[in-house]
Amino acid sequence: MNSTMWSRRAFLRSAGAAGAVASAANGMALDRVMEASQSVANMTPEEVAKDEFYWREIQLAFKLDRTLINLNNGFTCPTPRVALEAEWRYMEMINLAPIHYQAMVAGNIQTIRVRMAAEFGCDPEEMALTRGASESLQIAQNGIDLKAGDEVLTTEQDYPRMLTTWDQRMRRENIKVTRIQFPVPTTADDLYQRFEKAITPKTKVFHFCHVTNLTAQMFPVARLSRLARSKGIVTIVDGAHALGHFPFKLRDLECDAYGVSLHKWLLAPIGNGCLYVRKEMIPRFWPLQAAPEQQDSDIRKFEAIGTHPWAIRAALGEALAFHQAIGAQRKAARLRYLTLRWANALKKHPRIKILTDLSEPPQAWGVAAVNIEGIDVRDLARFLWDKYRIIVVPLVGGAPPNQVFDYQALRVSPNVYMTLGEIDTFVTAMEDALKNGVPARQTSDDGATETWFE
Ligand SMILES: Cc1ncc(COP(=O)(O)O)c(C=O)c1O
Repeated sequence: MNSTMWSRRAFLRSAGAAGAVASAANGMALDRVMEASQSVANMTPEEVAKDEFYWREIQLAFKLDRTLINLNNGFTCPTPRVALEAEWRYMEMINLAPIHYQAMVAGNIQTIRVRMAAEFGCDPEEMALTRGASESLQIAQNGIDLKAGDEVLTTEQDYPRMLTTWDQRMRRENIKVTRIQFPVPTTADDLYQRFEKAITPKTKVFHFCHVTNLTAQMFPVARLSRLARSKGIVTIVDGAHALGHFPFKLRDLECDAYGVSLHKWLLAPIGNGCLYVRKEMIPRFWPLQAAPEQQDSDIRKFEAIGTHPWAIRAALGEALAFHQAIGAQRKAARLRYLTLRWANALKKHPRIKILTDLSEPPQAWGVAAVNIEGIDVRDLARFLWDKYRIIVVPLVGGAPPNQVFDYQALRVSPNVYMTLGEIDTFVTAMEDALKNGVPARQTSDDGATETWFE
């Protein structure tokens, strides 16, 4: 055992037993996470991904209900207690005298814009803070001028609310929306070619996910953005599941607008999102709520939504600090490690089908989709909940304006606070289903995803 290892073990031991109780009672301070990260600084992210001593520290940073196993972190992730406590603190403070403190907190938010931009690789003047990906993307979708006959090119597996937004513009303004279908998993080349082939002289917008909310299929964002720009087409990218999940820089994507839910993989308190707009494109998008003409080129025009809870936005600062304390590379490596743990254990069964590309180099981290041949995924999801208290989302295609796809799958999305035991219980539960079957539902529905799982 070398000395680094020794001091690290000693530190972690102090965090065990009594230390764990103390931190559970007092809230995990950010400096504990930073210290833990410091202690593994000489290891690669892939090595740290397997270090349960390290991840125990991260698990302690959350206040959770471990009577259930949450494998639906793609919905919204629990925020670490440091961010939750900050949210309460700001809420309490603002409530002392909103007339005074609301403006004070709002006046400090620029610091978060600057930090977000530095972490995710853009100019602060390209980063708008919003309430989630729905808001961010609808600003872009509804904010771009289109006339009757203009075409938007998107996919059948884009997010339902975003498809509904285009559908509404189609009904209201007679634009044309073309939805491309694709198999899963597929390749970047295939997706590129499908978009390229579908372009017409009327195509004005590309809208697609960086990674889909279904099987986490990844799109070649930079290539598609360059293709679009070469033809005067605007690119709107749905990054709800990408930012804070795996490392990349926004400016490298070369797209025009990029919308994110920060309450997903950045682990921010619910009600946080962001919208990146390439600087020269800001004047091309109208804001959600009207702004004065002087703000035409100002990213802040996208943030004006009247009175709203600034505490939520202010607490984003702590969520970002937590993300940075773990480190984007280490976090992504752990998410992939957890995914590969269940996927590798299950894939040896001939009836298991994995619909996400888990090969190297990585294209998937904390989200993957799986099904068992011969079992309806809605029955399977209900079985996992009823017998094991495991939460997963069953994916079943619907009809337009919803997503359309011809496969069924469970979307499985662990997170950094999960234990290996929880992942292994999922494997056991799936093996139980494989061996013994699951009860079939009493009533069938029309095929849309059940709401309690969404
Ligand atoms: C791909 C995708 N886009 C957009 C959204 C909307 O995000 P929000 O509900 O945070 O606004 C989601 C949410 O699940 C999503 O998965």
